[in-house]
Formats: sequence, C-alpha cells, structure tokens
Amino acid sequence: MKSTIVAPANIAFVKYWGARDLSSALPLDPSISMTLSVCATTTTVEALPEGAADSIELIDAGGTARVAPERFAARVLAHLERLRAHIGTSRGFRVATRNSFPAAAGLASSASGFAALATAVSSALGDKPSGRELSIRARLSGSGSASRSVLGGYVEWPAPPGDDPDAPAAALFPASHWDLADVIAVVETAEKDVASIDGHRRAATSPHFETRRNLLPTRLAAVRLAIEERRLDLLGPVLEEEAVELHLIAMSSRPPIFYWRPATLAVLEAIRRARQQGLSAWATMDAGANVHTICERSAAKDVAQLLRAVAGVEEVIEDHVGNGPVSAPAHLF
Ligand code: PMV
Repeated sequence: MKSTIVAPANIAFVKYWGARDLSSALPLDPSISMTLSVCATTTTVEALPEGAADSIELIDAGGTARVAPERFAARVLAHLERLRAHIGTSRGFRVATRNSFPAAAGLASSASGFAALATAVSSALGDKPSGRELSIRARLSGSGSASRSVLGGYVEWPAPPGDDPDAPAAALFPASHWDLADVIAVVETAEKDVASIDGHRRAATSPHFETRRNLLPTRLAAVRLAIEERRLDLLGPVLEEEAVELHLIAMSSRPPIFYWRPATLAVLEAIRRARQQGLSAWATMDAGANVHTICERSAAKDVAQLLRAVAGVEEVIEDHVGNGPVSAPAHLF
C-alpha cells in the first residue's frame, strides 16, 4: 500500500525551546504556532513486507531522486523504527520526500517533514489515527514542532489545560478563524551550523532561560487572547519578544549559538521602520537566520515588496495560515 501526504511547516508564536526529555521531544513548556500552507513537505510511503529494509530518497527541486544525506537518513530511519514499535508492525517502508522550500534553514523543514512521514506511514498501513494520535506519532521523530504540523490553523502543544506535559497538540482555532499571512525573508539557504536539537540541549545553560520560563504563562495567555480576538496589535509585540528571547537564550548558551546574519538585522530594522509609517506587521524567527513577518493577509503584498528591497534578502516566500496535512493523488514514485 502506498500513500502520499503533503504536510505544511508551521511558525511558532510562542516557541518550544528546552525539553524535559529530548529523545521523545517532551517539552518543558507549552508552545503555540500557526500552521502554514506554501512551505510544505510531500512524502510518499510504501509499506513493504514484514522485515524488509527501509529505503529513503530525497527528491530535489528539479524532480531528480538522490540518496538522502547521512544525517537526514539517520533521523528518518530512527523515526520509522519508533513508529514501528509504537504502531506494532514489523513492515519495512520505502520513503521518498520533497520540500517546497530550503531545508534546515530555520524554515521548520523538520516539522513538515516528520508530520508528513508520520501521516504517510499511518495511511500506508491503512490506519486512520485521530489528530491527537498523529501528533504523538509525529513527535516520536524527536522534532517537537512536528507534533503541531499535523493539525491546521492555530495550534497549542501540549494541549491546554497544560497540566499534562505529555499531552499531544490540539487546534485552538481553525485556519478560517483568522486570515493571517507569514511573509518569509530568506537571508540564508545553507544548512544551519547548529541543529535545533542542540539548541534545546544547551538552552538551560543560559542565565536567561529561567527568566523566560517565568514569563511564559502570561505570554501564552496573551497569545491565546490575541488569536481569539484577532488582535494583531496584541499579538505582534509578544511575537517579537518571544523571537528575540529565543535568540538571546541561544546566544548566551554554553557554548553560544549565533543564528543571526547581518541581513537578519536589516530585515528587522525595515519592519520596525515600516511599522512607524503605519504598517501592521511583526517579526518572528525560529532557530535560523530567516525572518517571518506576520501580518493580515491583505497586507502581505506590501510586506513582500518591502522585504524584497532589503539588501541580503535572497528570496521572499508569501505564506499564510493553512489547514494541515492532505493526501495527494500523485505519488513521488
Ligand atoms: O521541533 P524542533 O525540535 O526542531 O524545535 C523547534 C524549535 C523552534 O522552531 C525554534 C521553535 C518552535 O516551537 O517551532
């Protein structure tokens, strides 16, 4: 049986940074994200006979299949192993995967990649798990953000009320609730030097880590309320605080991690200046140099034009809130 799934990336409004158990991606604190649409991973999985060896291919932008790089293949194999143990099967899997955007450059390729893998494996086995169960299956990859990408709209993980840190993700509001855009300024497409898993590992060595944790309950409440009331003026400042503090913690971890590039600052400056001129747009960043600008969908074209004019911006991706993974009729093999 063969299944092809297109799963989107997501952008965190309140970040997952620091884990209780890194190998199973069990977070210390809740995070909230918006599921995207354009930045997505397409993955075809074929369920092979019991005991068959797994195989993994990466399809490049031109449609050519190539052998997956070692580090990537090792993460996929480890996820397949955990999925087999969790679901209770000994089948092998043939996997082919293709990204619509630069991988491993802070554009949440692990979130979309592992959400697509967990969903495609489940459906290749003829299984129809609930959103909660899919979230757990995606998280078994070790990428916590993948547990949010199996759901559409505005997603919190672990799901509220938040007293069970092992709880899966749940949608707070569907995509139709608020038509927000994420206009992404790509300033770097090379693979980042330090993977987010190492960032999580080092997070608690920063003297600022506990300070942020103490601020999180208020921040999470503000983000939930801002989304509920569709208030960008409430959401925006919290978004920027969160992004800056994630990087403050990364920069002050031992050893320190610097994801920013000069063009990162230039983009942040351009957004701040445009806001002074009346544009309602706010920046956030994941563990990478690229900048995500959150605005109403009606302002996305103006924001994209602004970002294209900033020196050092290689590409601008106009993304927006989306509905989560879908199955695709055309397989990759
Ligand atoms: O899912 P991971 O382990 O790659 O970690 C994601 C980390 C951030 O993207 C920086 C934040 C987040 O919540 O998505």
